[in-house]
Amino acid sequence: MLRASIMGKIGIFFGTETGTTRLIAKKIHKQLGDEIADKPVNVNRIAPADMLKYDALILGTPSYGIEKIPGKTAGCLEANWEEFLAQMGDEDKAAFAGKRIAFFGLGAQERYADRFASSLMRLYEVFKGYGAEIIGDDWSTEGYTYTHSAAAVGDKFVGLVIDQRTQGMLTDERIDTWLKRVKPLLEGRL
Ligand SMILES: Cc1cc2nc3c(=O)[nH]c(=O)nc-3n(C[C@H](O)[C@H](O)[C@H](O)COP(=O)(O)O)c2cc1C
Repeated sequence: MLRASIMGKIGIFFGTETGTTRLIAKKIHKQLGDEIADKPVNVNRIAPADMLKYDALILGTPSYGIEKIPGKTAGCLEANWEEFLAQMGDEDKAAFAGKRIAFFGLGAQERYADRFASSLMRLYEVFKGYGAEIIGDDWSTEGYTYTHSAAAVGDKFVGLVIDQRTQGMLTDERIDTWLKRVKPLLEGRL
């Protein structure tokens, strides 16, 4: 018997200062395909309602500042996650409860070994605090070299971590491996 189901698309949103997180968001979108995911959108030009249209989300952030949410406070010139989150009212926050969200974060493990990809954790904590159902938060720290990352809990990162500067050659494979795991979960098929 055919089961009728209206499956919403996955929304992909990112913050960026110099475009790298946009590039990774585009790669993720290409890998998922147009039928499954809408085109990635920069959080510096949306309101919370644009994100709340989706039940399943992939959210990406670079790392700036000392373990901060990227934005003006972290020294960014462009509006980023900080400015987007500042728009969030209590009703918006409450509406994130139960949304399925997977995260990816960028960092540079050689230059910023003592706070590698740490902004990812700050973003993760915000949405977890809203009651979102977090997906893909058990990405192995194996293969990365750093001294400290706020984004790691034990030997797992709370999302996909990409270092385009030092390990760009591993990016496509990492995206592929991570998406194979998170895609069915985001679609609510498991
Ligand atoms: C001023 C500055 C601060 C940064 N701080 C960190 C950091 O704390 N941790 C980290 O892993 N990477 C850090 N990075 C590296 C960026 O997060 C990384 O290059 C990222 O890919 C940039 O993404 P974007 O092009 O989307 O802005 C920093 C880069 C700059 C220029």
